[in-house]
Amino acid sequence: MTVAASCRADDVGRPRPEVQPAPSWVRGAIPPGDAEFLQAMVTAHAPADMLELGVASGVSSAYLLHALDALPAGARPRRLRSCDITPTCYFDAARATGEAVRTMYPQPCTTWVLDTDTDARRLSQALPAGSVDLTFIDANHYHPWPLLDLLHVSVLARRQSWVILHDIDLPRLAPQYAAWGAKWLFDEWPFEKLAGGPQQNIGAVRLPADLTALVPLARTLLARPWEHAPTRWHVALPAPFSALHATLDAQIDAAAVR
Ligand SMILES: C[S@@+](CC[C@H](N)C(=O)[O-])C[C@H]1O[C@@H](n2cnc3c(N)ncnc32)[C@H](O)[C@@H]1O
Repeated sequence: MTVAASCRADDVGRPRPEVQPAPSWVRGAIPPGDAEFLQAMVTAHAPADMLELGVASGVSSAYLLHALDALPAGARPRRLRSCDITPTCYFDAARATGEAVRTMYPQPCTTWVLDTDTDARRLSQALPAGSVDLTFIDANHYHPWPLLDLLHVSVLARRQSWVILHDIDLPRLAPQYAAWGAKWLFDEWPFEKLAGGPQQNIGAVRLPADLTALVPLARTLLARPWEHAPTRWHVALPAPFSALHATLDAQIDAAAVR
């Protein structure tokens, strides 16, 4: 785990440099138009603690750090925790996960915690409940991963806070990479939600006050074909979703014999 907070103490609250364009080696990162949606969500909700799941090169991390730095000083110092399952970029093992932050936005005032050996379930066990003010998920887009990731991290999220989802229209925009997980999750979300970006490919969903209200949505989505089967460990959901445990165990068993 890397912890970086590198602006000088007297720079906090002062105008910060702009984010530099993504370096040419970057692949699969959030485009600038979608980053504007991220910035708008950060501005609207002024999170002290933000969680990002799915880092790759770190382009979205750079945009988030810049947006967090642009907020007025809060009661607590701001922190972005950026998490991934791998220490190197999925498209180039010679590049470290998060490496683009060094050139795009090298001296954030917001504390940046980069953890490249974790996932949503491990986070749900490691961080305090209700401690995350705003969440961004841009990880495994294959169904049912976005749903499972959201359910795991929902217990970390502050009550009724927002979860931003990227690639909510990926099958239409890039049929060659068709992955339906984020799209189905966003489309079927029964509570408050909004979509944005130039192609409406980024959105945000608001968690209900009672997380058990997500169980019917989860049942509906879990009944759809799984594109990338998780392990039994990954489907062990937190307590509000205990009603799903038996179904999930049966589905894991069925996936194993196929
Ligand atoms: C689309 S990329 C993220 C792009 C990044 N948000 C950006 O805009 O620069 C997806 C990332 O999710 C990571 N990932 C895949 N499965 C994951 C999981 N279960 N938990 C956390 N990260 C995961 C991959 O290693 C990859 O780095």
